[in-house]
Amino acid sequence: MTTLARQNVRADAPIPTWFGVGGRADLFAEPASIDELRALVDEFGQRAMILGDGANLIVDDAGVAGPVVSLKNLNHVEFDLENQQKRTLSARLGEPSHPGVVLVRVGAGAMLPRLILECVRRGLGGLEGLGGVPATVGGAVRMNAGGAFGEIASAVRAVRGITTRGETFELSREKIAFGYRASGLENAVITEVDLALTPEEPAALRDRLKEVMAAKKASQPLGESSAGCVFKNPTVAGVRVSAGRLIDEAGCKGMRERSAGVSRVHANFITVEPDGAARDVLRLIERVRDRVAERKGVTLEREIVVWSRDEEL
Ligand code: EPU
Repeated sequence: MTTLARQNVRADAPIPTWFGVGGRADLFAEPASIDELRALVDEFGQRAMILGDGANLIVDDAGVAGPVVSLKNLNHVEFDLENQQKRTLSARLGEPSHPGVVLVRVGAGAMLPRLILECVRRGLGGLEGLGGVPATVGGAVRMNAGGAFGEIASAVRAVRGITTRGETFELSREKIAFGYRASGLENAVITEVDLALTPEEPAALRDRLKEVMAAKKASQPLGESSAGCVFKNPTVAGVRVSAGRLIDEAGCKGMRERSAGVSRVHANFITVEPDGAARDVLRLIERVRDRVAERKGVTLEREIVVWSRDEEL
């Protein structure tokens, strides 16, 4: 067997994204273990393109060389059973339980929405504010996903991964430069994350998750193909302001570029028709950026990631 075959590499494969448009990968890998992942990083270095859930990504219609590397097989979740058992025992013995934190160790490819539901079910609080954020855990940490109800950085205790030179690393929370939609780990491959969660009543967590989901449903076009917010919220005169509001005020709602349109529900969302083209989305992004710069005097920075053979995009 060749090295590439062992690393589960396929040729000419589709790249699953939430936009549902865009081209294919010349090479697509789904390593079954960290060793296989490391072999890919050794072989391809920075050319390896790490795919999360494809929720914040647009792939150009011409596709990419890759290899695109999906970490979906690195999806283990280990709950802190030892501490959970201790708590159950102290409850049975009538001793006061020690609230403390519960550590959960999660593979980068685990799906965040499923993890949130499982944590709520087990009475572990700290992630429910991220309800409705489509992401793998690794992807969410890499970009410090979040919104008005919290960001994932607050729950992160440690991150393990591989540098583009193939060296493994482990960083505790204090050493990670989390910021607004940033982790400082953008050039590394995150393989595993330790989360510190707090024991809480499952019913209270469930109510909070419902509230978060309802707020999103009311303000975002969740039923259509999009990649969430297109632009980061900029800082204007020292204050972070909603890019969606700026785009709305610049009169962009409903603006179209063939198969792509600026959502009328939330202006920082671009939706695309099922058979649409990535080029339409990319052109519309540029037109929105230009109009906001012209009418509001603010240059927006893209939040969604663009993959292309063309370095200019
Ligand atoms: N607004 C408008 N018009 C619009 C959109 C928003 O006037 O078209 C106004 C709203 O009425 C509100 C304010 O702008 O007064 C803020 O809007 P919202 O609560 O939707 O928050 P946001 O800052 O636009 C951020 C995140 C979202 C996250 C929400 C809710 C960014 C770029 N966006 O949006 O994240 O879901 O908060 O927590 O940080 C994403 O990152 O993909 C994303 C959708």
